Amino acid sequence: MSISVGMVGLGMFGPSFIQSFKAHPDVHRLALCDLQSDRLSKWAKQFQISETYPSLDAICQSDLDALVIITQHWMHAPQAVQAMESGKHVYTAVPAAVSLDECEKLVRTVERTGMIYMNGETSYFRPEAVFCRQKAAAGAFGEFVHCRAEYFHDMSHGLYNVAKNRWGKQWGRDKSGAIPMHYPTHSVAFPVSVMKAHATSVSAQGYVYPNDDWFRQDTIHQNPFSNEVGLFTMSNGATMQICEFRRIGHPGCERASGIYGTEASFEQNLAGKVWADKHGHQTVQPPQIHGDLPEALAADLGGHGGSHAYLVHEFVDAVNRQRLPSLNVWEAVRYCAPGLVAHQSALCNGELLPIPDWGDAPGQ
Ligand SMILES: NC(=O)c1ccc[n+]([C@@H]2O[C@H](COP(=O)([O-])OP(=O)(O)OC[C@H]3O[C@@H](n4cnc5c(N)ncnc54)[C@H](O)[C@@H]3O)[C@@H](O)[C@H]2O)c1
Repeated sequence: MSISVGMVGLGMFGPSFIQSFKAHPDVHRLALCDLQSDRLSKWAKQFQISETYPSLDAICQSDLDALVIITQHWMHAPQAVQAMESGKHVYTAVPAAVSLDECEKLVRTVERTGMIYMNGETSYFRPEAVFCRQKAAAGAFGEFVHCRAEYFHDMSHGLYNVAKNRWGKQWGRDKSGAIPMHYPTHSVAFPVSVMKAHATSVSAQGYVYPNDDWFRQDTIHQNPFSNEVGLFTMSNGATMQICEFRRIGHPGCERASGIYGTEASFEQNLAGKVWADKHGHQTVQPPQIHGDLPEALAADLGGHGGSHAYLVHEFVDAVNRQRLPSLNVWEAVRYCAPGLVAHQSALCNGELLPIPDWGDAPGQ
């Protein structure tokens, strides 16, 4: 058995996945789609792909089995719902959703249509996340106590252009800024997937950069915070600290800097990765190849810690075998809902707020 796939969104990020979908032995047909005809023709020519569509609406009318949606982040949830309603299995880039209402709609659409949904969280397949999940499965941490995770991405590292490019012709001063905790999935995915626990409440605070001309109240985001930090309670009794910083003197990272258990712990910083217990510690280097991959994908794992090839394989294999993907919708909303509530808490000076949950995936 093999499947047909359409890739929607060929901006800065989407094209980095074309080669892996094209090379996957279980994909017999690949189509491309973008609203911008110059992007569409450029990538179709470069990868010698003849089947193209000018819009999501058009590709939803095709007989393709699955769509990979890598469009602007605020479009993911409504476009995923539209595609599933059209009978397509769906992969979207992160975040899965930008509001709690969208989380609800996504989960209910998957339940009602029975289509396969997967969220492309790159941190999930980073070697150190896989290493920690394997240690957790073996019981090596003991009981989980606390996890610290962060996504540091200073504005000067390309983020002004990313925002302007995503808005395109609609770009204007009112579109500047963003809400750091509305893009929390690269950090939250570590503790949630390793501890197999979800966030239950949060108290968060924000940092205002002096004279910030980008993060401002008078934008569509109405957010003055360039950096947000949240302290969460978790369903397993542990605590979780998440830092989403966009003004920081740091080269940048998406990592769990510490996952602590009653028996052992994992720590990571710019100097390296360490496994520790009550008697000492050792430096570890989790392997880049950590699971089965078709040979054609293993040759080039792609970006974000070699996660791209694993994301592509997980989605293709889940659709082909009609199985639940590891990054299913119930898991995906556990990566974004905590940040959505944390931002509300930060706006209310740290008020402790409950975090909704949509339950475990069926059979989990
Ligand atoms: N590590 C990661 O997981 C990671 C890294 C980078 C980007 N991303 C995510 O990838 C997504 C895309 O980012 P980007 O920088 O490539 O954005 P982009 O704006 O450069 O590209 C988006 C593309 O989608 C197309 N598009 C939008 N609506 C469409 C429609 N209805 N039909 C067809 N095409 C449509 C646009 O024309 C555009 O070319 C973002 O949502 C971002 O959150 C994730």
